[in-house]
Order: sequence, then C-alpha cells, then structure tokens
Amino acid sequence: MYEYQESNRYFAQVADDIKDITEAELKSFGAENIEKAYKGVFFTGSQEVLYKINLQSCLINRVLAPLISFNCSSEDQLYKSAYQINWENLISIDNTIAIYASVSQSNITHSKFAALKLKDAIVDRFRNLTGERPSVDTRDPDIWLNLHIDNNIAVISLDTSGGSLHRRSYRKESVAAPMVETLAASIIKISGWDGSRPLYDPLCGSGTLLCEAYLHITKTPPAILRTKFGFEKLPDFNETLWRKVRHDVLNNITPIEKGFIAGSDASQDAVKSALKNCSVIDEKNTIEIKQINMFDIHEIKNKTIVCNPPYGIRLKKNEDLSGFYKQLGDFLKQKCSGSTAYIYFGDRMYLKTIGLRPSMKMPLANGGLDGRLARFELY
Ligand SMILES: C[S@@+](CC[C@H](N)C(=O)[O-])C[C@H]1O[C@@H](n2cnc3c(N)ncnc32)[C@H](O)[C@@H]1O
Repeated sequence: MYEYQESNRYFAQVADDIKDITEAELKSFGAENIEKAYKGVFFTGSQEVLYKINLQSCLINRVLAPLISFNCSSEDQLYKSAYQINWENLISIDNTIAIYASVSQSNITHSKFAALKLKDAIVDRFRNLTGERPSVDTRDPDIWLNLHIDNNIAVISLDTSGGSLHRRSYRKESVAAPMVETLAASIIKISGWDGSRPLYDPLCGSGTLLCEAYLHITKTPPAILRTKFGFEKLPDFNETLWRKVRHDVLNNITPIEKGFIAGSDASQDAVKSALKNCSVIDEKNTIEIKQINMFDIHEIKNKTIVCNPPYGIRLKKNEDLSGFYKQLGDFLKQKCSGSTAYIYFGDRMYLKTIGLRPSMKMPLANGGLDGRLARFELY
C-alpha cells in the first residue's frame, strides 16, 4: 500500500502568496485537514475530492500523491531504497516517465542529480527484471514522479495532475508578456467578481484575464481541455467515479450573455491572439474583444475592471512607464465612475505614480517578479 492510500493525504503545489485563497478553494471541493507549508498546502480528501480538485482548481499547479518516504542521506541510499520499490505496480514498460526533484537542507544538494539517481534506480530495476525499460519523456510523459528530499528524508510522489494545471490549453497564441493562468485566476478570485455586473479588461493582451473570468463565472472547469490526468495511473484509479465527477461538473456549466465579459487592446496582434484564445473555451464567442487605445475609450462605468498594464522589466528593460501610469490613473478617475478596478502591477514602483489611493493592495508574485495587486474604488 502506498502512503497516500493509508492517509488520504496529498500535497497541492501552489504559489506562496495565494495559499489563503487556495485553502478556501480546497474546502469548497471537500478537502479537510488543510495545512499550509512551503510552496504548497497539505490536505486530506477522498478519491472524489482528488478528482474534483484536479478538474476544477484554478489556483493549484499540481497535486502530489506521496508513494513512499525513506531516510536518504546519500546518493547510494537514494539509489538502493528506490531500487527496492515495486515500480512494476505503477509503471509499465510502454509508459514514458519524467522525474522532477527538489532538495533542501540535505546531504544531497543537487536536485537534477537526485532526479537522475532515481531514474537510474527505476530503469535498472526494470532492465534487471525484464530486460526492458520505460523511456524518459520530459515534455509529455505518461507518469510524472516527484522526488522531494528535505532534511535527508526523501518523499517520492506521483503527480496526480500529470503536468502543471496552469497549462489550460486555451493559449494558442501569445503576446510579449502574457500572464500565468493561475495568477490571472487568483486576481479574478480575489476581486470577488460574482457576475452581478460586467467585467472589462482594457489592456487584455492575449486575453488571459478574460479567459479566467469566463471559466470562473460559467463554472467551466479550468482543466476541461486536459485529455489525461496523472491520477488515472494510480493503482486504485476508479474510472466510474471519475466519469461521474466529470459529468456532474460539466453539467453545471452556466452560459453568460454576449458582452458581459469584454476587453480591448491597442495592439492588433494582441486582439487577434485574445480572440483566438477566448474562442477555444468560449465556443459561442460571448466574450467581446476590440482593438482600441485605452485612452480613447469613452467610459467604463459600473463594471469590474481588471487589467495588467505593461511593466518595463519584462517588456523593455529600464523603460520608464511613469507617464503611462499617471495617464491610467487619470483615465480611471475621470471615465470609470461606479467601477471597481483591480490593477496588477508587475513593478510595484508604479503604485506611486498612478495617483490614486488603493483600498486594498497585496503582494502577488509573477514568475519571480515582486508584483502587487491593488484595488481602486472609483466614485
Ligand atoms: C502586460 S500586457 C497584458 C498581458 C495580458 N494580461 C495577457 O495575459 O496576455 C499589457 C498590454 O497592454 C497593451 N497596451 C499598452 N498600452 C495600451 C494602451 N494605451 N491602450 C490599450 N492597450 C495598451 C499592450 O498591447 C499589451 O498587450
């Protein structure tokens, strides 16, 4: 029996800044005993809860099911312990595998080397038992294994998501600085947007915030386009239960009116990619997108505004956008009365130049950048 089968305990990998909202999200799917940890959250839950989380979470990157833990103070010990595991119960010769490792405060200090040792142990065991071995595919393997060594204790887990859930598969075309899907989803969650008024993104780029708003409000599961999950490879995978979970969730999708979610961008290429990306999930094209310079928009009144303005670091190094942010602040003040704006600042220094006092601001990292999300009530 593997560890997760005895404890029903899993580890959800999630960005540190959004652990609080992840806790609420996990509870809504029926998870219990939630414990925040470094770069993630532990929880317990039934198989049904595990399937629901993988299908419906908009915040979590991966859910790991721990298989086995052991003392691991040397490479030799890692190899020998890993070699003893009955990998044949989990992996077949025809499967492809990938191994991701992380190490902290341990004698083994190189994660890539640790991953290689584990791979060698698995492959050698298969070769010695059968004369054949599974192959490695780091891009789209059948089975993703995760090795975490902390304080010389190794935990090997199976990634039940089967690759990061932030990849929703709707991004067919991109722009210069697209937002990570889980970050966009957290902005929509934090905004508390409940569909009681329309939502608008005047700097929509490739449309990530629009897509995440659509998934949220229509209750479309973020992993709707995913064709395979890692949990399907667990020895106790219950296909009937999984079909039921998926069927019930898909039955709950609620359509919205055309134009209720809308956006625009000054760039023709951005609009083209946003239209393409949105149409992947919004087949009826209810999301409206047009090409217009934000400052030429007549007004955006009584709406929830979300946007992610340009920020020098990822676009052009050391570009000073103070003038742009000042103009953005003036636009919000003069043309957006009755709206609430959630602006994501990739570079927090521009919070000072926008000339508006936020009613809320919070750190929200974006791929290592120290970003901020700020809320502005516009009267
Ligand atoms: C950081 S990107 C937004 C990325 C977007 N959230 C995504 O996920 O793809 C900023 C966008 O603002 C647009 N932009 C910059 N200045 C603008 C303006 N004055 N009016 C409208 N769009 C503008 C750019 O074309 C760019 O697509």
